[in-house]
Amino acid sequence: MIITAADLPGRRAYRLLIDCVVPRPIAWITTIDAEGRINLAPFSFFQAVGADPPSIIVSIGKHRDGAFKDTGVNALAMNELVVNVVTDELAEAMNITAGEHPFGLDELRLAGLTTAPSQHVRPPCVAESPISLECRVSQRVSIGREGAENQYLVLVCEVVAFHVRDDLYANGRVDPHLLHPLGRLGGNAYSHPGEIFEMERPAATRPHDLA
Ligand SMILES: Cc1cc2nc3c(=O)[nH]c(=O)nc-3n(C[C@H](O)[C@H](O)[C@H](O)COP(=O)(O)O)c2cc1C
Repeated sequence: MIITAADLPGRRAYRLLIDCVVPRPIAWITTIDAEGRINLAPFSFFQAVGADPPSIIVSIGKHRDGAFKDTGVNALAMNELVVNVVTDELAEAMNITAGEHPFGLDELRLAGLTTAPSQHVRPPCVAESPISLECRVSQRVSIGREGAENQYLVLVCEVVAFHVRDDLYANGRVDPHLLHPLGRLGGNAYSHPGEIFEMERPAATRPHDLA
């Protein structure tokens, strides 16, 4: 079956895309507005995209009323956000914060969560999350027509600080057996990490690597 994206009406292409690109990590993003009010929401259009500076992207859409989601509005206004990692035990709290709530509502309190201070940016970390990345927005890219209801705003962000819970961290690395990150599949489906295994990469054969 080959499906031409342009033939798909409405949100069908979007739904098929999120069925196909799986599992996606979830960025649970804290931002603040100009008055210092905290906002928290999950985003699975999220990935690590660069090493020096360490960089991530998140992609933020619009609410049904046509306004960009609060996370996007705040991140653009303040240029800062914190990406908190969602683990198995935080799944339900994460889901509560995904509700379409009025601008300015504190989703942290709604989900029974607390904050921990950030060091380099103003938005706080979610204290219950084992990993938080303090980020500064470095670039913005628009996906889709300006003003369209399904326009997305991709924010490229520099990670300026990593918070890693002590028990997960050894020799500069995070232990993959202890983290249990939640994955986002298509529709409303999620995945736990399955069995973890390792593979050695093929030996390098490019002349530069052999020198
Ligand atoms: C697991 C999960 C992943 C999500 N990923 C995205 C995403 O990548 N982009 C997006 O615009 N909305 C995404 N959403 C929806 C937002 O979280 C939701 O619209 C939220 O209300 C936005 O809140 P805000 O207006 O406070 O930023 C996701 C929801 C869930 C539950």
